[in-house]
Amino acid sequence: MENLIEVKDLYLSFGKREILKGVSFSVKKGEIFTILGGSGSGKTTITKCIVGLLKPSRGDILVFGRSILSLSSIELDSYRKRVGYLFQNSALFDSLRVWENVVFYHLEHSSYNLKELKSIALEKLRMVGLSEEHMELFPSELSGGMKKRAALARALATNPELIIYDEPTSGLDPINSRLIDELISSTRERTLATSIVVTHDMVSALSISDRIMVVKDGEIMQIGTPSEIYNSPIDWVRKFISMGIKNAPDGAYNL
Ligand SMILES: Nc1ncnc2c1ncn2[C@@H]1O[C@H](COP(=O)(O)OP(=O)(O)OP(=O)(O)O)[C@@H](O)[C@H]1O
Ligand SMILES: [Mg+2]
Repeated sequence: MENLIEVKDLYLSFGKREILKGVSFSVKKGEIFTILGGSGSGKTTITKCIVGLLKPSRGDILVFGRSILSLSSIELDSYRKRVGYLFQNSALFDSLRVWENVVFYHLEHSSYNLKELKSIALEKLRMVGLSEEHMELFPSELSGGMKKRAALARALATNPELIIYDEPTSGLDPINSRLIDELISSTRERTLATSIVVTHDMVSALSISDRIMVVKDGEIMQIGTPSEIYNSPIDWVRKFISMGIKNAPDGAYNL
């Protein structure tokens, strides 16, 4: 299978603190690739580098066959149209209605009229299990799970070929978390988009991923299939997984 993303020897520091320490991996076209790791291990930083929100101090990132580090600002705009990013904590605009949040990219970058914009918003909201009745609400009027859905609808608004989900289930109860997992899987089936999922939800990671990358303190510990990770030869990885599983409901994952 062809690689959609190639991350090569990435280093990034904030001030004197080195956050990424030589991270290299590739993501295949169409796969669900999960980044798993503890708080502060650099997961969000990696994804922000991939969408071009952070620049690494060393290394390269190739997406869709091109280095994204050398894109002009116009090229970066059209690159971002091909990439859907679900921010950690949803990051919806509180002052905008749900439908405006969903088509935010189009409001800024396209010439669709109001009717067309609303129709795109409704189509995307329906894809994530929301409906017409949510269109005119403000984010503050949505539950946590609905906010995640609305943010997912926004990430899908430009029909992206790559979707990055940063902690899509954090703050949700187990039932809503599993519903979001199903949504990620069904979105992949429907759109054939490549997906990167950042999580420390072990159940999600083991049940939806084609491959999992385990990171610790800005370094990759292991990359493998869910069962390779579950049966890891590396002590630290096995302990990390078993700690996460202890907190999971019975039968929540199926290997
Ligand atoms: N803009 C920033 N300025 C300074 N330090 C930062 C910045 N962003 C992140 N960091 C630090 O970099 C480290 C990695 O952060 P990152 O957000 O990538 O972790 P994470 O794995 O996504 O964690 P979490 O699971 O808590 O979201 C953390 O120690 C964090 O404090
Ligand atoms: Mg994070």
